[in-house]
Formats: sequence, structure tokens, C-alpha cells
Amino acid sequence: MIVITGATGALNGATVDHLLDRLPASELVVVARDVSTAQRFADLGVAVRHGDFADPSTLPAAFDGADQLLLVSSSDPAGDATSLHRAAVDAAISAGVGRILYTSHQGTSPDTPFGPGRDHAATERMLADSGISWTSLRNGFYSHSLGWMIGPWRETGTFAIPADGPVSWTSRADEAEAAAIIIAAINADPALSSYDGPVTLTASAAPTFAEVAEIASEATGRTVTRVVMEPDEWVAAQIAAGRPEFVARFSLGMYQAADQGYFEGTDPLLATLLGREPLTVRAELSAPPIAH
Ligand SMILES: NC(=O)c1ccc[n+]([C@@H]2O[C@H](COP(=O)([O-])OP(=O)(O)OC[C@H]3O[C@@H](n4cnc5c(N)ncnc54)[C@H](OP(=O)(O)O)[C@@H]3O)[C@@H](O)[C@H]2O)c1
Repeated sequence: MIVITGATGALNGATVDHLLDRLPASELVVVARDVSTAQRFADLGVAVRHGDFADPSTLPAAFDGADQLLLVSSSDPAGDATSLHRAAVDAAISAGVGRILYTSHQGTSPDTPFGPGRDHAATERMLADSGISWTSLRNGFYSHSLGWMIGPWRETGTFAIPADGPVSWTSRADEAEAAAIIIAAINADPALSSYDGPVTLTASAAPTFAEVAEIASEATGRTVTRVVMEPDEWVAAQIAAGRPEFVARFSLGMYQAADQGYFEGTDPLLATLLGREPLTVRAELSAPPIAH
């Protein structure tokens, strides 16, 4: 049995859809904080259980009987992600889960300026210490995030952001499909060791924002210019535009981590699993923007 958390969200919800193409619904269980939000899975014959990482008493029953547990990383930038993940890992140990697959991120490190990367590093440490088989799905940065990071470039022909470095912008839809392929492969062969530990899932290129501007120029036929802002100047501009300061500083950490090379590698595994080239930045910039 495969237990999936975060299925009411975009990433793991799409993974469940891909799993349903490969496995009977009776093999899947979805865990939701509010079970009514998972009705579409119940309608497809998937069992829905209540579970909230912030209420550990709900988790043993939620994870009971799982050969594999797909553990979503916390999505709250103001929350204590490490404690929430600790509760989930402890419950998985108590429930005797066979394997945990965790939605991590490329560039995890205790030293990265990108806050979630530090949380992912701590969670991967927990998984390594848990005694349970584990897979960390180190996803590339969602490519649709480019839309809000570079703002209304289509209208202005410019975007102004702090210094950066290469980022392996990757489609969330591709990451979700790859997770389902990995889970189905482990389901077919529980002794499979190819996916033990960290697994990096990225698109095939890692452009800098200067290169993103070139790609945007080629895609639209108009010149798009990338302007470099000083970090403090950029944070002040974000606050002036109405963003909370902690959100601006959280985002600044992403640019700083990119500048320090945390998101620069690419890995051919995603293309191999999908059997096609993952979505490119050019295709992303040519598509209508996604809200989140
Ligand atoms: N690779 C990237 O660039 C990138 C970017 C952003 C985020 N992420 C990470 O990837 C994860 C999945 O992305 P997504 O796009 O699917 O995010 P999403 O649409 O916001 O979904 C997050 C999911 O996590 C669940 N969740 C949140 N807190 C929980 C808790 N305390 N207990 C149980 N479930 C909880 C949510 O349940 P509810 O429906 O109850 O809210 C929702 O199903 C995010 O959570 C985040 O950690 C990665």
C-alpha cells in the first residue's frame, strides 16, 4: 500500500494522478488535513485518511500499513518545517512504514542561504538516521516560479533582481510524473536499491537570469533586459511593493543560494525516467503564467 501526503497540493496531487495510471486505486491512500479537500480522490476509489503533521496524534493511523509513504515537505515559509517533518518521520517509524519518499529540493545544505534548503538537509539527516529505507526526491526549482520572480517582463521588457547564478528550472508536472514512476518501480520490486537516498530530478539546463533574459528575448522577439539590484535595494523595493519583509528576505535567500551555486547542477535522470526531454525554460516562458 502507498500512502501519499500533500495530495491536495499541486505536486503530490499530480503524482497520485500518475500513480492511478499505473496502479489500482485500492493500492493508494491519501492523507489530508481536511479530508473534504481530497474528495476527488475518494471519488476515484482512493481511501482518504485524516492526518496533520502539526497534530502528531493523527499520524500513526494515517500511515498505518504503508509499504511506501510519500511525505510532502511543509509549504509554510513561517512554520517550523523541521519539527513538522520530525513528527512525520517519528510516526512513520512507529507505524513500521517500509520506505519514506520525501519531496526535497536540489541544493540542500545546512549552510545554504535558502531557508527550505536547510530544512531539507535536516530532514534528510532524520531520514538517514531513521533506520527506514528512504528516498529524497531533490526536485529542481519549479520553473513556473519564474513567472512571479521576474514580474511583468512581457509588458516592461525588463526585470530587476539581485545577483544570481545558474538554476535548473524544472517543471512541477515533470517532477510529479517522475515521482510516480519511481514509486511504481519500487512497488513492483521492493528490493530495488537504485532510488536509495538522494535522487536529483532536474531539467537538462541551468540558466542564469541573464540567460533567462536572452531566452525570453528569443521567445518573444523583443529585447528583454536583466538589471542587477543590490540586495538591500531589492528588499526595500519588495517591501514598498507590499510584500512582508520576511517574504522578501526568504526570496532573497534563493538568489543568494543561486549566486553561490546551490542550484547549478543538472541530472539526466528526470529525462531518462520520463522518456522525453523535460520542459525547458523557453517552453515555460512561452506558456501562460501559473499563479503559484
Ligand atoms: N521545488 C520547488 O521549487 C518548490 C517550490 C515551492 C514549494 N516546494 C515544496 O514542495 C512541496 C509540494 O509543492 P506543492 O506545489 O504541491 O505545494 P502546495 O500545492 O502548496 O501543497 C502543499 C501540500 O502540503 C500539505 N501540507 C501542508 N502542511 C501540512 C501539514 N502540517 N500536515 C499535512 N500536510 C500538510 C498541504 O495540505 P492542505 O491541502 O491541507 O493545505 C498540501 O497538500 C511544498 O510543500 C514545498 O515544501 C518546492
